Amino acid sequence: MSNTNSLKMDKPVPASLLDSGSQGIIGRPLDRKEGPLKVTGQATYSAEYQIPNLAYGYLVGTKFGRGKVTNVDADSVRAIPGVIDVVTDFKTFLQNSQQGGETSAPTQGVQDVHYFGEIVAIVLAESYEAARDAGIRIKVEYEEAEGRFDFEAHKDETTKPPPNNIPAHFKQGDVEKAMADAATSVDVTYTTPSQNSSAMEPHASIAVWDEDGALTLYGSYQMPTSDKTQLAKSLGVKDKKVRIIAPYIGGGFGSKLGIAPESVAAAVAAKQLGRPVKAVMTRPQVFETTVRRSNTEQRVRFSVDGEGKLTGVGHETLTSNLPGEGFFEPTGIGTHFAYSGENRLINHDLVELDWLLSGSMRAPGEAVGMMATEAALDELCHKLGVDPIDFWKQNEPSEDPEEKIPFSTRQLVRCLEEGAESFGWSKRNATPGQVRDGEWMIGMGVAAAVRTNMLMESSAKVAIDANGRATVSSAMTDIGTGSYTILGQIAGELLGLPLDQVSVVLGDTDLPDAAGSGGSWGAGSSGSAVYLACEMLREKLAKAMGCDPETLTLKDGQAIADNRQVSLGSLVGDGIEAIGSIAPGKMEKDRKQSSYGAHFVEVGVNATTGEVRVRRMLGVFAAGRILNAKTARSQCLGGMTFGIGAALTEDLVHDPRNGKLVNHDLGEYHVPVNADVPQIEVHFLEERDQFANPIHAKGIGELGISGCGAAIGNAVFNATGIRVRDYPITVDKLL
Ligand code: MOS
Repeated sequence: MSNTNSLKMDKPVPASLLDSGSQGIIGRPLDRKEGPLKVTGQATYSAEYQIPNLAYGYLVGTKFGRGKVTNVDADSVRAIPGVIDVVTDFKTFLQNSQQGGETSAPTQGVQDVHYFGEIVAIVLAESYEAARDAGIRIKVEYEEAEGRFDFEAHKDETTKPPPNNIPAHFKQGDVEKAMADAATSVDVTYTTPSQNSSAMEPHASIAVWDEDGALTLYGSYQMPTSDKTQLAKSLGVKDKKVRIIAPYIGGGFGSKLGIAPESVAAAVAAKQLGRPVKAVMTRPQVFETTVRRSNTEQRVRFSVDGEGKLTGVGHETLTSNLPGEGFFEPTGIGTHFAYSGENRLINHDLVELDWLLSGSMRAPGEAVGMMATEAALDELCHKLGVDPIDFWKQNEPSEDPEEKIPFSTRQLVRCLEEGAESFGWSKRNATPGQVRDGEWMIGMGVAAAVRTNMLMESSAKVAIDANGRATVSSAMTDIGTGSYTILGQIAGELLGLPLDQVSVVLGDTDLPDAAGSGGSWGAGSSGSAVYLACEMLREKLAKAMGCDPETLTLKDGQAIADNRQVSLGSLVGDGIEAIGSIAPGKMEKDRKQSSYGAHFVEVGVNATTGEVRVRRMLGVFAAGRILNAKTARSQCLGGMTFGIGAALTEDLVHDPRNGKLVNHDLGEYHVPVNADVPQIEVHFLEERDQFANPIHAKGIGELGISGCGAAIGNAVFNATGIRVRDYPITVDKLL
């Protein structure tokens, strides 16, 4: 008999066992299981493993934008005490390719360079200090080539990228005609700059090879199962020869979805040296050589008829990426289903630039897409003299406007209504520039939030041992989001165990495969895998009790049926285990699945200095079952904080002469600090989504950022009457 309980989501799962659990821990705001380990320094991050005979690697990046390295002069640094060697022969030259676009390296010491800062060598030494000293001083000779480094100069030379999550181009009806026939319309262009994920922990790897040619990599990665495959491919070894260990990850936000150059460099160097090698990126290297969110230029058009009904939506975006890379920032991904209107045009075109790779950063698509569409919608409402919430009520689509399929759940309008009530939206003066508090001009803004929900193939093992304790294990990760806790809660709820009787082991590719943490799919996907494993364990327990699974009650470590009560430990003998495995199916085609929300923001804009201060923020979200009210709230707080950064401060500046990032560290690239972030309120609406997965939960990690920046911009407009269409909204644009 198979020990795996598999489910492909071809049908809804109307009854979730989580609703009938007896333990009462699901949804509760329980503290993170691993929190004490983190605050006491006992959680080991990838750079912190104590490995004997370790050599320290320092990555060497180029100081030119495009061309060829002709010589890396190892002899120039060999005399530095402690220096061991310089390795340049990366078998596969790796462009941190999340999208799988590796290119082969030419012969040793000569490499094509695609962007400023690209890693071309790793210096190895007995100490980090020696490696760094040599890495800074090493002579790299090169031939520079012409490059394209200026978005403005090249934005007319576009290519149509291949599909990626969504088709690059989409057309329904005739937007031009809808615009021409419109009673009212807007046609506006918004821009957002390149951005960096700025995860607190820099990318770091320790590579250890054994005598059998197997590699163990301690790395900071979001998706170990697929990262293992990517790393194996880069090194030209079999998948099963690579193991990635990543139990703790200090944030990723997309930058650690795929492997980055430090892992390949460490692995190649360790092999060549015959010693374990550690490579930790400096903060500038994280900025220059991992991945950025692309800058965007977005033309947004909305047309309405005489009754104020949306008739057309246009959303055309230019983004940038390296030549040959297929990824584009899918700004229109939410536009496809958020807005009604029969006539639709949603296009993405790519400007090929010799800037570092662009890829995923928190809520790829909606995060910056809605900064344009929800601001343009605010412009439309202002023109119409209609409150945005009333506009939504009138124009809320009843089904997906393109695929003509029902929404699985959609509580967007309820989020807006409940938010308006709690925030005191009715006190807003819709005429801009009317409200003052001393030298501060006060304004309120609102924006809708949507974030596509995804289910990804994932598995997990759950075991109950002879002491009646459960252990959940999976190659899933916890990137600071609460995976350890929610997976423990799901198992605890279904097996009738308090959270402290459930161990959760994650972040190791020797454990059952999982899709990891990305795209807000982690909780729904891995949570479902744990659920399915526990469902099978409940059947086994019922069998051992000699009762139907339906009549079995599991609570506080006891199995209860027919007036009998047996402890789990004695029921399972030497122990039992099961594997749960979930896969997406027809439900993602039959129902449009997304999480929804509404952002309310009050800002003050200083009348003298133009400084913008966010005073109050409220996010109301509907995302299916909330598995843990505390970790879910923290996700939304983090997302909304990202929203503040995107709206007001974050702006990655590329030198138009060579693509060099002018502000490649946290001193110059401004993410919000505590003083920038007000008290944020987060509410969740009660919801279950039986079409999403058996736990009825949807993604939340990226919902909080989606739409948030627009609500801030809309509040700035309400405060000042100034509409800034070029994010971030800095002081100079308001004076
Ligand atoms: Mo996310 S941008 O898929 O970590």
